[in-house]
Amino acid sequence: MSDYIVEMKHITKRFPGIVANDDVSLGIKKGEIFALLGENGAGKSTLMSILSGMYEPDEGEIYIRGEKVQISSPNHAAKLNIGMVHQHFKLVSDYTITENITLGIEPIKKFAGLFPYVDIRNANRKIEELSKNFGLEVDPTKKIADLTVSMQQRVEILKVLYREAEILIFDEPTAVLTPQEIDFLLGIIEGLRNGGKTIILITHKLEEIKKVADRCAVLNKGKLIDVLDVKKTPVNLMAQLMVGREVNFESEKVPAQFKEEVLKVEHLTVKNEDGFEVVKDVSFTIHSGEIFAIAGVADNGQVEIADTIAGLTKVSGGKILLEGKDITNESIRNRTETGISYIPEDRQSFGLVLDFDLSTNLALKQYYREPFSSKGILNKEEFEQFGSNMIDKYDIRSGQGIKTQVRSMSGGNQQKAIIAREIELQSPLMIFVQPTRGVDIGAIENIHRMMIQERDKGKAVLLISLELDEIMNVADTIGVIYNGQLQKIASSESLTTNEVGEYMMGAKHE
Ligand SMILES: Nc1ncnc2c1ncn2[C@@H]1O[C@H](COP(=O)(O)OP(=O)(O)O)[C@@H](O)[C@H]1O
Ligand SMILES: [Mg+2]
Repeated sequence: MSDYIVEMKHITKRFPGIVANDDVSLGIKKGEIFALLGENGAGKSTLMSILSGMYEPDEGEIYIRGEKVQISSPNHAAKLNIGMVHQHFKLVSDYTITENITLGIEPIKKFAGLFPYVDIRNANRKIEELSKNFGLEVDPTKKIADLTVSMQQRVEILKVLYREAEILIFDEPTAVLTPQEIDFLLGIIEGLRNGGKTIILITHKLEEIKKVADRCAVLNKGKLIDVLDVKKTPVNLMAQLMVGREVNFESEKVPAQFKEEVLKVEHLTVKNEDGFEVVKDVSFTIHSGEIFAIAGVADNGQVEIADTIAGLTKVSGGKILLEGKDITNESIRNRTETGISYIPEDRQSFGLVLDFDLSTNLALKQYYREPFSSKGILNKEEFEQFGSNMIDKYDIRSGQGIKTQVRSMSGGNQQKAIIAREIELQSPLMIFVQPTRGVDIGAIENIHRMMIQERDKGKAVLLISLELDEIMNVADTIGVIYNGQLQKIASSESLTTNEVGEYMMGAKHE
């Protein structure tokens, strides 16, 4: 028998217009934490969906414990003791934890040896035992609807353990968790490994791999680049292999040259649906050539400020001036025309029309004017030409070029498409709300570079971010918000990360 509990040999999987896995071969040893690293769209989920029986490969072979297998379904994978904790949980919200965990394999007993019934007591006992053994405390009688995301994830993990998984695949398990929950989960994963399980951990976060993984395979555009010994490999080499070039963790910036005032917010107050003031008397100014960032813990009013400037939320007090013109009560379209580009936090509901193709999405804010339309008639050629140019200029990767349905694109590429579209509007003010959330480091570096480029072209840039590192890295001026109020406005050079943190927690104010 070979050293490997799992061997994948020459696996190729194609989707229309794209080779998701291109002749990938790797072996995973029993009892190791094996990480799968790669940018969005590199083919990580596809490769593991093949191992867990969701897809069949077009080419290649799989060996489990030395034996060749054709994994035909997730049930078949479960029989081979392979279980996957998916990126998007597959739980029934009206069911209890036990019902979810035992779904499809209810433990049947026969009453008086005749009438079949579900033996919930036995199931609950087994779940409690697993919970204890692996530190995954849950109350089996609770309904999924009443659980937090991290609790739901625990249920997913228990579900695969209940099915006696020995090989556990985690698909980007930390994407939905807070920093504290991430630490906890990584601890659980190490515990599972120490208990003899084999773990495959999909992620694009290098620090997580450094923390727990033994070995790490790097995928790039469907191809296996290398398999690394994590302890012996420096982080920047991993990053370089992942994105296919050198990565700068710090953005390069020439000193800012502030010019005329572009945005002036005066005594802005915003109320939420319940009439509660979420933004209180906020004033600041952004100049041409300046990146102004609002730092703060989530839900302290920063997103409402951005939404109000863009016209998505109504002002209840104060004024917004754009290049000297009062736009406080202007329509959204007028604001786009007069000069605001907006990259929203929720790109899937507000930024893009997921069922439209890429070229339509790229021209979405300009379709009604020349050269895309003339006298109410759309010019299809213009649309397509524009789309192709944007794909080249902004390196947007998609399966079928301008015809790609945006829904099928990776998050990072969707984000690039929005940014491309908004930059092309050539607006004097650009608003970025959480522009790098859920995006891998290669794309993050790109987005930071684009923001700085826009600044250097003389745009005024407003950045709203929960990532303090990002703010310290790109902002010229920082406004720190707490409880709807700006606590401090100062140049980024004059502030330390710790100080900003104190203002963010309301522990310090002017
Ligand atoms: N069901 C599918 N249909 C069409 N294309 C797909 C499908 N699943 C994935 N892809 C494409 O295959 C490529 C690899 O995707 P995926 O395996 O999800 O990458 P990763 O998990 O590394 O982000 C991407 O370009 C993606 O758009
Ligand atoms: Mg994936």
